[in-house]
Amino acid sequence: MRKVKTLGLLGTGVIGGGWAARALHFGIDVVATDVKPEMESWIRGSVASAGPALARLTAAPLPPPGTLTFTTDLAVMARQADFIQENIPEQLELKQRMLAEVSRHAGADVIIASSTSGLMPSDLQRDVVGPERLLVGHPFNPVYLLPLVEVVGGKRTSAAAVEAASRFYTYIGMHALHVRKEIPGHLTDRLQEALWREILHMVNDGVATTRELDESIIYGPGLRWAAMGTNLIYHLAGGETGMRHMLHQFGPCLKWPWTRLEAPELSETLIDRMVEGTQEQAAGRSIRALERLRDDYLVAIQQVLRQFDIGAGATLRALEERLYEEAAARARPHAEDPSQPLRLAETPVQSEWIDYNGHMTDHRYLQVFGMATDALYRRIGIDDRYRKQGRAAYTVETHVVHLAEVKQTDSLYVTTQVLGVDPKRFQLFHRMHRVRDDALVATGEQMFVHVEAAAARSVPMAPEVLAKVKAIHAAQAGLPPPPQAGRAIGMRT
Ligand SMILES: NC(=O)c1ccc[n+]([C@@H]2O[C@H](COP(=O)([O-])OP(=O)(O)OC[C@H]3O[C@@H](n4cnc5c(N)ncnc54)[C@H](O)[C@@H]3O)[C@@H](O)[C@H]2O)c1
Repeated sequence: MRKVKTLGLLGTGVIGGGWAARALHFGIDVVATDVKPEMESWIRGSVASAGPALARLTAAPLPPPGTLTFTTDLAVMARQADFIQENIPEQLELKQRMLAEVSRHAGADVIIASSTSGLMPSDLQRDVVGPERLLVGHPFNPVYLLPLVEVVGGKRTSAAAVEAASRFYTYIGMHALHVRKEIPGHLTDRLQEALWREILHMVNDGVATTRELDESIIYGPGLRWAAMGTNLIYHLAGGETGMRHMLHQFGPCLKWPWTRLEAPELSETLIDRMVEGTQEQAAGRSIRALERLRDDYLVAIQQVLRQFDIGAGATLRALEERLYEEAAARARPHAEDPSQPLRLAETPVQSEWIDYNGHMTDHRYLQVFGMATDALYRRIGIDDRYRKQGRAAYTVETHVVHLAEVKQTDSLYVTTQVLGVDPKRFQLFHRMHRVRDDALVATGEQMFVHVEAAAARSVPMAPEVLAKVKAIHAAQAGLPPPPQAGRAIGMRT
């Protein structure tokens, strides 16, 4: 299977737009096709509205964004694409016809994936030329923020295609879950539907409102589900004997049972209750406003989970590791003047960094300086592998000088100068600049001590790490001492 530089999209509605935003953000070109020419402005709009949340997902260095082109000619899209993702309406006959059509124009080594929520890949590959490269890649809305994609092969799909598709999805920041046996609805939608069916019953029977049922999830199980699924959480709920105890205790309820298998009739009364209930919950907020709110908390949750290296946070962490490695590989020696401060981090200012005065709040300066320190760590070899050996660098002193305002619309970059180094310590001087006018907005001077973490005592750096810090320090030796370096706070009388 070929390396994916251009993603072809067939159908550019809600899901096609989400795929476009995600792929472009991670540097993949997109050629999109739809039967309706007016979908060009829709997809461009949906990419633009995904932008702010995507920009906040990670501060890791990204490749240049991909470019988006649109055509109503399916053959043009299929000939240009290295990987094709189909996102047309959920109708088996339509999908079979269009997938067959697209397969006639696509290169033989181009994977064709369907976003279908529940159709089986064996049915979809019926008339496809080269059915071994047809599979399901089922994403979740919003595709640009949720990492899950279910990868399902059909009877004639090759293992190589499943593997190559999973590799591509991982490359664009997703968690590719291989569904080993095709089944209608794959895995996730079967689970979601079971819950939704029961919701419809309870609303229909007047047991609870849509709000009450949503509250029953968001204040409880929903929080747990974000990082541990139902099974692992139930294992914890069973005390020392875990899942075995849970099954003994609650197993009998499954036979009563508490839930129903058949969906209720979708009567007008039930539809009205569902619509009125959710409208009341929306409380006058538009779909757009609610989407923005959803996107903001989805970004925030993934960033929190990253700290615990769990679930979607682990996916984000792995993505960032790769982005940092690729950025380091991209940085050609001649592009950087080693005698100057190193430009190590760049980030947009996030909305939650702003305080009641409309400026970036104090501790966020340290966060941004920390991004530069982190990038320097990687460069000198203090990375995950090094830390797993029980060695790390700890910050022991910091002095921040605030020089100009930073607002929400700003983006920032940080340059770093090594002011001093000995076997156990190094001293950094960060300069934070606004991207739009290069203004110096803050400086941060910090001292780091190299430690053996378990014993919490200082020890010399590994020789190769020390050599790298010394090399940067020597290369920057001609720089004048920064005026803010070595300053102390005090009121002159
Ligand atoms: N909406 C979701 O939450 C969601 C989530 C995961 C997967 N999916 C799946 O993704 C697919 C698309 O769903 P959606 O919600 O984006 O639908 P949508 O209605 O928003 O978009 C479908 C697009 O396909 C276009 N189209 C129709 N026939 C076409 C053809 N012959 N050639 C090219 N374009 C054509 C339409 O003009 C439209 O722009 C479905 O299979 C759905 O099951 C949807």
